[in-house]
Amino acid sequence: MTNQAKSYAHLYSDEANARKPSPLKTCIHYFNDPNIVFLGGGLPMSTYFPWQSISAVSPKAPFVNGIGAPCTSSEDSIEYTIPKNISDTKGKDVIALERCLQYGFSQGQTPFLDFVREHTKIVHQMGKYEDWDVLATTGNTGAWESTLRVFCNRGDTILAEAHSFSSSIAAAEAQGINTFPVPMDNEGIIPEKLSEILDNWTEGVPKPKLLYTIPTGQNPTGSSLSVERKVAIYELAKKHDFIIIEDEPYYFLQTGEYVPADKRAPVTKAASHKEFLDNLSTSFISLDTEGRVIRMDSFSKVLAPGTRLGWLVGAKSILNTYLKFHEMSIQAPAGFTQTLVSETLHQWGQDGYLDWLIGLRYEYTLKRDFCIDSLKKHLPLDLMCKSDPTKPVIAINPPNAGMFFIVTVEAAEHPEFETKFGKDTKKVEEHVYEQIIANGALMAPGMWFECHYDGETEKNGKSVDTQVFFRGTFAAVPLEKLDLGISRVGDALRKEFAS
Ligand SMILES: Cc1ncc(COP(=O)(O)O)c(C=O)c1O
Repeated sequence: MTNQAKSYAHLYSDEANARKPSPLKTCIHYFNDPNIVFLGGGLPMSTYFPWQSISAVSPKAPFVNGIGAPCTSSEDSIEYTIPKNISDTKGKDVIALERCLQYGFSQGQTPFLDFVREHTKIVHQMGKYEDWDVLATTGNTGAWESTLRVFCNRGDTILAEAHSFSSSIAAAEAQGINTFPVPMDNEGIIPEKLSEILDNWTEGVPKPKLLYTIPTGQNPTGSSLSVERKVAIYELAKKHDFIIIEDEPYYFLQTGEYVPADKRAPVTKAASHKEFLDNLSTSFISLDTEGRVIRMDSFSKVLAPGTRLGWLVGAKSILNTYLKFHEMSIQAPAGFTQTLVSETLHQWGQDGYLDWLIGLRYEYTLKRDFCIDSLKKHLPLDLMCKSDPTKPVIAINPPNAGMFFIVTVEAAEHPEFETKFGKDTKKVEEHVYEQIIANGALMAPGMWFECHYDGETEKNGKSVDTQVFFRGTFAAVPLEKLDLGISRVGDALRKEFAS
């Protein structure tokens, strides 16, 4: 017998429960029926769309010269044209402009959905329950906003990593939703702590409906959850009946463990698709047997952020609830984006797209290695605490994925911790942030990413902790500039703590 997703209607927001499908959307499928004269909708005639075709040039799979190499000839590039009329399309996967620029298809254009559904199957070993599907989004920012609207009422509580992506936390807070911080260590959420929180949840306060997590290359900490922790967290979701939202823009940037330069073999690309896929971390969605995980995937970090395109993976019934919201909010991701991205992906094919992702991971691994080497070269990592000579004042935790690294600083070791800052860790954090800027670099202080609950910061003991951190990225600048920036951070820290 095949497994079906459970119903989660009891977790939906009042708004989602009240929402009815747009009546006009229920008849849109007649639009292309040659037997029906469609007088029912306010659709402009595509004859008046002012684009006859659009063309693009992209690198050619398998990207032998690297994913950043310029396109110089037909040897290394592909050129393709998307026509206006469906009758002019060659190949069933081309989304003609008269279709993608018209109203309709709020769930996403069929060839686009077909591609990402197949890709999801290849990457995540789907099938532990049968009725899953995909839904087009405008990227994970929009997908998260939709998630909050689908599940949460004002006054509800959600769980999130104690330090999390500030825009996601701000989006929840702006809707009057409380975000409860879940304690983390270098490897992300600590399942035992989460269990404690839920077992001791205050009576009378509704339990959290959602856990928002960034499992891979977490923003801001760079940490990644192991499969063991994911299994433990999934069991807690079942026990305490909450939905796991995995926000995974960095999933394919799995750079692996950092190996110091003197012990490191030259970085190589995965030898085969199988090797690449086998080495990807097990996702929450692939562990899901009852449809209580929603996965948010985005092209922002693998193709380009301005595509504003992504997709959700989850139980069909939940995705239908999102769809009803999308019909009355975004309608659908932009038609240009859907047709162009879909065509690029179909031209590459599933194998070509994996080649692209392999190339991308290779590039990020080189950058990550360079960045950690540079941190080791420039930061005073050998400076030890006066209070505990076994503990470093400044430390790094090389990430296994994503584009972020953090530098942790023992604020109590600042020579003026008591005299100038009155033992206030936050004041030291602000001061160090400003000193790094004064020295010509910028790193984001950890406090910008704190998840707040009832006005308090972390209920995990961190508020009495004297450790602070600063987030940096190795993705945004060329390597020489990265090295320069890190050397300036090192100088600022040395001035503050080693004098
Ligand atoms: C964790 C996380 N989620 C979502 C986003 C935004 O993604 P998108 O461009 O798909 O909206 C970011 C971007 O920095 C992010 O770090």
